[in-house]
Amino acid sequence: MKNIKEYIVSPELKEYFKFVPKLRIAVLASGNGSNFQNLVNLSKEDKLDIEIVKLITNNFKAGCIEKAISSNISYEVINDKDYKSRENFEEEIINLITENEIELVVMAGWMKIVSEKFIDSFKNRIINIHPSILPSYKGANAINNAFINKSLITGCSVHFVVPEVDSGELIIQAALPVKYSETINILKDKIQTLEHIILPQAISEAGQIIRSKLMDKY
Ligand code: GRF
Repeated sequence: MKNIKEYIVSPELKEYFKFVPKLRIAVLASGNGSNFQNLVNLSKEDKLDIEIVKLITNNFKAGCIEKAISSNISYEVINDKDYKSRENFEEEIINLITENEIELVVMAGWMKIVSEKFIDSFKNRIINIHPSILPSYKGANAINNAFINKSLITGCSVHFVVPEVDSGELIIQAALPVKYSETINILKDKIQTLEHIILPQAISEAGQIIRSKLMDKY
């Protein structure tokens, strides 16, 4: 793997599940969108059976918008500042996800805390990526906090979203040693590289759970 020689992923990586038809996902992102771009690439290369139906961002300056445009992915800017209340803002997103028959909502650098109502609208169908080994270093600035605290190991996690921030059942985690001879930016790059490995794997796992529950109904 690029840049990283020592790392652990748990559970072990395996082949992605096949989804026919492709798993319909929406990506919620507020920033640069490297995770979003990675998912776009895997989908276009037919390596992961997902259809990225929508990118939803709350930030009209977010780098993920450019990426959506150049990859021809439909996107929507829903800025909380344009709404009277958080409820109205979330309602707009809930409607968009529902209208588009999204099976799995993927939060990849989504910087807004979502309400219980939002989570209940898509129960067990929202996952989030976080740059720490949860339950350590929840919240913003997770990588900085691990570095400042002189943690010797850190990494990233993907989990199902529950009302408590950065909690919920873990799907997959990656860990790596922190080297204090290197800068924090190198650590950030390494964690991002690991994110690009575990997020698609988590989508495959979560998608399989969602699809098998659907089958149970018949
Ligand atoms: C990632 O590090 C993710 O863990 C955090 O926000 C970052 C998003 O990166 N929640 P990108 O926008 O996908 O490049």
